[in-house]
Amino acid sequence: MLVLILFIVLFVLTFVILLTFALGALSAAPWLPLPGREVERLIDLAELKSADVVYDLGCGDGRLLFAAVRKYQVSAVGFEIALLPYLLARLRWLFFPGRKKVKIHFHSFWNEPLAPATVVLCFLMPESMAKLAPKVRTELRPGARVVSYVFKLPGTEPNLVSRSGDKTAAIYRYIF
Ligand SMILES: C[S@@+](CC[C@H](N)C(=O)[O-])C[C@H]1O[C@@H](n2cnc3c(N)ncnc32)[C@H](O)[C@@H]1O
Repeated sequence: MLVLILFIVLFVLTFVILLTFALGALSAAPWLPLPGREVERLIDLAELKSADVVYDLGCGDGRLLFAAVRKYQVSAVGFEIALLPYLLARLRWLFFPGRKKVKIHFHSFWNEPLAPATVVLCFLMPESMAKLAPKVRTELRPGARVVSYVFKLPGTEPNLVSRSGDKTAAIYRYIF
């Protein structure tokens, strides 16, 4: 009996994990963690100050949020809809000394007002960037930055493009 219950629990959990992975992929981007060496390059390009409020749209396991708080003492907010990376982010949060500065939400960023953010980080797909463009244009405050890994925000010229070598992807920075 116990084995059967365990089997059902594992089956349901696996199903929910796979379902939320699919939802994430359909909603904005699949879970593809930013390579470790690129994390610092991306947050450095944002030119963060401790007063900044950094949003990561689709934060995965939270690596950008934790790195930004560790290095620049910013406040950081992440949104994630895939269950497994969200749980990993929560686990990291539990053991992170600066956790008071990090908030991680298990819901979609599409309905989230972006006005509180001074910096928005994203590593999404081209179609999602096209959908995100009018949202950041209408909701972000003047002076807010968007830093995007690999894909451009259509309709706005980046004020900085970083290509630091043959093997690194482009990172685009926009100031509104
Ligand atoms: C390419 S990954 C980037 C993860 C993380 N930012 C990083 O750099 O390691 C994109 C993430 O966005 C999440 N995602 C997709 N659509 C989302 C939505 N509508 N709301 C919140 N998260 C979403 C995916 O589940 C995935 O973890």
